Amino acid sequence: MPHILITGALGQIGRVLLQHLVDVHGKDAVLATDLPFDQSNLPCAYRSLDATDGEAWSKLAKEFRFKEVYHLVAVLSAKGEANPWRSWEINMKAWQNVIEHATHWPACKIFFPSSIAAYGPPLPSMVDEAQVLTPTTSYGVSKVAGELWADYANLKFGLDIRCLRLPGVIGYQTMPGGGTTDYAVDIFHQALKDEPFTCFLGPDTRLPMIYMDDLLRGILELMATPREVLAQAESGPSSAVYNLDGFSVSPAELFAEIKKHKPGFEIKYAPDFRQGIADDWPQELDGSKARKTWGWQPKYDLALTTSDMLKQLQSKKKVTTLQKQQHEQH
Ligand code: SER
Repeated sequence: MPHILITGALGQIGRVLLQHLVDVHGKDAVLATDLPFDQSNLPCAYRSLDATDGEAWSKLAKEFRFKEVYHLVAVLSAKGEANPWRSWEINMKAWQNVIEHATHWPACKIFFPSSIAAYGPPLPSMVDEAQVLTPTTSYGVSKVAGELWADYANLKFGLDIRCLRLPGVIGYQTMPGGGTTDYAVDIFHQALKDEPFTCFLGPDTRLPMIYMDDLLRGILELMATPREVLAQAESGPSSAVYNLDGFSVSPAELFAEIKKHKPGFEIKYAPDFRQGIADDWPQELDGSKARKTWGWQPKYDLALTTSDMLKQLQSKKKVTTLQKQQHEQH
């Protein structure tokens, strides 16, 4: 019987996290849920779930006794601005359902991914968790509200919710969708096609990023930290919110690093509405609270992220080409 639940399991982080959890705990331990998209090649049980549907959650709550929940459902920053109320509704209703139903699962640990989008102007270039939060996107507002509900639920319902404020995530395994940091993945795919890249952010837009391997380790380290250790870092018994820092980079710096490996690569800049979103976000995340509390230490800097992304994407491309050739021969 699965005791680990992932919502939003088919998304950029979900697919990678679920594979990792299956590798560690075995396929019977994990239940993946998401909207009924393509669920082929999933390594564990899958259930189609609209995370905003309270009745579906009630059924889930009766059927399972989860010990860990990773709640990855979210409409991200850029997509959210196209329909702010819809984004609010999805992000908050899904989170309410998790909190309400988690009260049925004794001693369950819950992971809530917050974001750099929780921050807003005016900002120092590096921010820590004590920064006053003034988000300027619907997504950011829902992340701040999500953190506050986490606090409330920990305090009032005795839940154990843990939050990380995440940078943009760079990974070769999956594509992001609807975010302002998505360019930092797209650029690698374009470099490997040997085609010029048009960036929707200006060259000097520095933002915090993290490599997928570091992100997974960060999430799992946080979840493995005893509650008492986290509580000692807090002013009260409730709040468990940490910046997870990786490295910071601008499109021009990322381009220059990729160009070291692909000298013919070219870039053009055509900033759109996402520029305004990025301009309101911090340039650097201060991760010292996570470092002090549970020993967080990112391993991937810009150079390592770039070389590993290119290496991994190149070998994925080789496998795909080989599979295509074999398919054509049969
Ligand atoms: N990657 C997210 C976005 O760009 C930020 O958390 O919306």
